[in-house]
Amino acid sequence: MKEEKTSRAQFATKIGVLAATVGSAVGLGNIWRFPYETGANGGAAFLLIYIGFVLLIGIPVIAAEFTIGKTGRATATRIFSKLGYSRRWSSIGYLGLLTALLLMGFYTVVSGWTLEYLFASVSGQLTAGDTSQMHIRFDEFTQNSWRPLMWTVVFIIINYIVISRGVEKGIEKVSNILMPLLFLILIVFCIYSLTMPGAAAGLSFFFHPDFSKITSGTVLSAMGQAFFSLSVGMGVLLTYASYFDRKTNIVRTASLTALLDTLVAVLSGIVIFPAVFTFGMEPSGGPRLVFEVLPSIFNHLPGGTYLGILFFLLLFVASLTSTISITEVMISYLTEERHLSRGRACWICGVATIALASVASLSFGPLKNFTLFGLTFFNFLDFLASNIMLPVCGLLLCIFAGWVYAGRRLRMDMLPEGVRSSVWVDVIVMLVKYVAPPAILIIFIYGLL
Ligand code: PHE
Repeated sequence: MKEEKTSRAQFATKIGVLAATVGSAVGLGNIWRFPYETGANGGAAFLLIYIGFVLLIGIPVIAAEFTIGKTGRATATRIFSKLGYSRRWSSIGYLGLLTALLLMGFYTVVSGWTLEYLFASVSGQLTAGDTSQMHIRFDEFTQNSWRPLMWTVVFIIINYIVISRGVEKGIEKVSNILMPLLFLILIVFCIYSLTMPGAAAGLSFFFHPDFSKITSGTVLSAMGQAFFSLSVGMGVLLTYASYFDRKTNIVRTASLTALLDTLVAVLSGIVIFPAVFTFGMEPSGGPRLVFEVLPSIFNHLPGGTYLGILFFLLLFVASLTSTISITEVMISYLTEERHLSRGRACWICGVATIALASVASLSFGPLKNFTLFGLTFFNFLDFLASNIMLPVCGLLLCIFAGWVYAGRRLRMDMLPEGVRSSVWVDVIVMLVKYVAPPAILIIFIYGLL
């Protein structure tokens, strides 16, 4: 009787662990950012490089982050001194905090767009036009000063209401049902997309690599996309791992998270590219791509209005579970390390996020000409957070985990309790020590110089 109870509890934990990490990983990164990055970087060759990064750098860094979190059991800024190392290593945690804020600054703008498109589908406006009208619609909406701003602020408020009331566990439970539904609906769209006249051209673009399109910038973007999509580097996974029990199989959880996350991204590519070629659109359309292509698909599908409503609702929830995970990093720092009340911490982070996101949102319209290093503020935040800060945090994490924390301890702590050796753990430790750090460094040097 007792035994049955224990094993059930553990089963529940395993699912909980995976659901929380997948909830953080699957979001706009898979459905919005992945297709447009792939489209802008030449298609299949980008996909291949991306998958290479997920396997050789993504999974090892997730595993390293999990191991440190599981062993140290503290916030990202304190964990290093708690594990007995100089406070200097805490800078990884502080960099993560800054990255969290920058990420929220542009992520919530796009989350706001999902709300606009959700309401437009409810009122039937999305299925009432062809592709060129969708193009105009997107411009009219994003160039308007107040409307996108309003949705972004609404999204941020929802995010903080959920967090300040401590109901994120509830949202996670809901998302355990809704995320498989998102997966199903993507499969339905895939099947439909594959019957379109542009399917062959779309699939060839997505799966038939043309390596002449690869530049050092492409490789940097693929690395940034891998870090962004897997939620790795900034302390989200480290914080989640502090709730793991000793029997959690780190390598398996890391691999499953990466597998599911990549599957969702690939599915959304299979939905988007056949449609792009059918409607004669540009795969390199940038952040607008998905918001033009998807309504065009709904427009042609029987029951498209309802599928559109359902889809944008699911995308909204997917992005909410991701922003909740990003926000938790900032809130746990302010409450546990700075001893602020949860409400106060929410106010501070909320106001800072609204300030950044407002400038990012306006950078599609009135602030279009305000640029930093040749990028609009939105693109600047995205580039800085995803392509630079997340990989830098990942690099420092690998150096810490593989060399300072030392390979042997890393290996021992990565093994689930009661298991004495595993080839997979050995492979991952080797990747953390010898492959990920030089690879990240070399890509930086070539990509940025
Ligand atoms: N991985 C999330 C997505 O794909 C975004 C995210 C990045 C979440 C970094 C947490 C940390 O939408």
